[in-house]
Amino acid sequence: PWLLDVSGPLLAWYDRQARILPWREQNTPYRVWVSEIMLQQTRVEAALPYFERFMQALPTIKDLADADPQLLLKLWEGLGYYNRVRNLQAAARAVVEKWDGNLPDQYDQLVSLPGIGDYTAGAIASIAYNRPIPAVDGNVLRVLSRLLASRADVTQPSVKKEMRSLAQAMIPSERAGDFNQALMELGAMVCLPNGAPRCDQCPVYHLCRGSQQGIAHELPVKPPK
Ligand code: ADE
Repeated sequence: PWLLDVSGPLLAWYDRQARILPWREQNTPYRVWVSEIMLQQTRVEAALPYFERFMQALPTIKDLADADPQLLLKLWEGLGYYNRVRNLQAAARAVVEKWDGNLPDQYDQLVSLPGIGDYTAGAIASIAYNRPIPAVDGNVLRVLSRLLASRADVTQPSVKKEMRSLAQAMIPSERAGDFNQALMELGAMVCLPNGAPRCDQCPVYHLCRGSQQGIAHELPVKPPK
């Protein structure tokens, strides 16, 4: 099916254009995990200095598990949503106890940890371990809705589930992490929200049903509030 043709041009674009980011340069499970938690409510540019400082202060999962909660709050100060860092430490302690400080590579084990949901488990499993697990966040939902010309309400759990299984089917087995990050990167740099996609720069424009139908900028459809 045509969707499977997306990965070739998308990965070629990613290789040429992707931003050099610290969790891409060194994609250890711990670094990928912390970056994904920071990026949940924080933009990449804003997260960068926090990420570097966090990694210098707490270079290993064991360091995070043992850290003084005051230091943690200090490292997180300004990022907000402090439950994120409390969950990080709770999960780090569980990882030290259960797996000797090594983050697991299995989706089911990852989602069992505090603060790690569906998206984050997929991101860690794919980006750090190259496992073919989808990682569908808001950016990726937008990209997929447009590719498919889907007017389905992406806030519905059933629709998210369907998008995840489509994303799963698109993953090339050799480059799962790069593929997932390429979808995120496309959403962040090209397939922009608010009706402003830069379709002239899109590597999969020719495969995009939303652009073919002239409705990409209207998608995804959100329910009336
Ligand atoms: N947003 C969420 N995860 C990301 C990642 N790995 N790279 C860039 N932006 C992201």
